[in-house]
Amino acid sequence: MQITFMLNGTSVTLTEPTPTTTLLDWLREERHLTGTKEGCNEGDCGACTVMVTDQTGHAPLNACILFLPQLQGKHITTVEGLSQKDAPLHPVQAEMITHHGSQCGFCTPGFVMSMATAHLNGDTDYDTTLAGNLCRCTGYAPIIRAAIASEEHPVPDHLHHLALKTPEILPERADGAAPQSSDDLAKLYAANPDATLIAGATDVGLWVTKQLREIATPIFLNQCADLHGITQTNTHWRIGAMTTIAEVERTLTPHFPSLGSMLRRYGSTQVRAAATLGGNIANGSPIGDGSPAMIALGATIHLRMENTHRELPLEDFFIAYGKQDRQRGEFVEAITVPKQPYTLHCIKISKRFDQDISAVCACLNLPVHDGTFGQTRLAYGGMAGTPARARHAEAALTSQPATLTTIQSAMQALTHDFTPVSDMRASADYRMKVAQNALLRAFHSINGTATDLHEVTS
Ligand SMILES: Cc1cc2nc3c(=O)[nH]c(=O)nc-3n(C[C@H](O)[C@H](O)[C@H](O)COP(=O)(O)OP(=O)(O)OC[C@H]3O[C@@H](n4cnc5c(N)ncnc54)[C@H](O)[C@@H]3O)c2cc1C
Ligand code: FES
Ligand code: FES
Repeated sequence: MQITFMLNGTSVTLTEPTPTTTLLDWLREERHLTGTKEGCNEGDCGACTVMVTDQTGHAPLNACILFLPQLQGKHITTVEGLSQKDAPLHPVQAEMITHHGSQCGFCTPGFVMSMATAHLNGDTDYDTTLAGNLCRCTGYAPIIRAAIASEEHPVPDHLHHLALKTPEILPERADGAAPQSSDDLAKLYAANPDATLIAGATDVGLWVTKQLREIATPIFLNQCADLHGITQTNTHWRIGAMTTIAEVERTLTPHFPSLGSMLRRYGSTQVRAAATLGGNIANGSPIGDGSPAMIALGATIHLRMENTHRELPLEDFFIAYGKQDRQRGEFVEAITVPKQPYTLHCIKISKRFDQDISAVCACLNLPVHDGTFGQTRLAYGGMAGTPARARHAEAALTSQPATLTTIQSAMQALTHDFTPVSDMRASADYRMKVAQNALLRAFHSINGTATDLHEVTS
């Protein structure tokens, strides 16, 4: 395997690297670029944030769960490359000093990289852009003041031109572990059905950094160009398996604002820029946020094994805890979502507002026509061993008057759909209570009451 990328303006080619070496370890141990810090080593704290640029733009990513092969063709900027030699500090660095945005300083390089990426992208929503960076001693107010003050300053020229400096993919690069298309992937995976597919690595990264697992045969999907991105017809969106959550959020929020509000709380800016919808669904987590939302929208999953393609309603993909309807050597190609009016209500319940896995994720599609519920689709995460539809509650609503009494009967029916468990995130009783109350909240939202947490707090 050969990997070529740019690091702080200089081209780097690595021949036969260990594929599951993280960028963080490589920067610190091989390059002695120790400005990028290791805090949690699991994507939670942002101390390791670097800026990654490709033709689609600039994104902050967590270097601790980013494997070297995922860098192919990209430009990486670390805190050491933010300002050029003998040039003034980058505006966000200078303003962090002016506004006393740093005390022990451990989190500071990560903050500075998130702030510099936001500055470059003209993104001034700091509650969102900094939600993936934790500071334990300074407090956030001075940091946000520094970010606001930096808006007055222009982006340094060398950062504007980063996208022009991404390396060409070398034509002679031959590597088994990084197929270039879904056709290549289909052949490779059929020949190595026990290989581990790696998409954004926001799950697989932790298998390596936290569980110290060896990934014997990794296959990296990041270069399969035809698995990336969202296309549309008159009736559907087709979301390639490698589409990031950030891109799903950008494309679908105008159509489903409540989905956008929920995805805004999916991990952090860094996690959403790496995590893919295909990986989120394929891992089959009962507490993932992507699957309930897609099930409530009536999505179809498209699978491929060699040259055999098949599709099924997304809810049928999840058989039992840890068991999906996916054969050895079969992979997720895409998710299709029917176009439809905006009647989706997504409610994510977690202990923390930002950057937390859901205790319960309720995605409730509640069309109302002339005062009557149409065909409803209610999908929940965190209530069973898989993401699942609430069929009894759906039956209690569909074709019934859109009244509080109907909602209350659906809330009661929900007790026949699920027997949730107690765990560290929530007790069984709490889960049932908030799952029922999600229906009530959606009902009030339909009737014009502001219930979205962003609306309520702003
Ligand atoms: C800090 C942090 C916060 C998080 N917060 C959330 C959250 O709020 N909500 C949430 O839902 N999740 C959250 N996650 C979990 C994670 O981000 C998601 O599950 C993510 O979408 C996985 O996608 P990925 O591309 O990173 O997958 P990877 O880690 O690359 O892969 C995940 C699994 O899917 C398989 N896989 C990947 N692509 C395919 C494919 N095309 N076909 C078949 N199998 C495939 C892999 O082999 C692996 O088993 C969080 C993770 C972290 C680290
Ligand atoms: S070290 Fe905490 S996110 Fe990477
Ligand atoms: S300055 Fe100490 S953790 Fe942020």
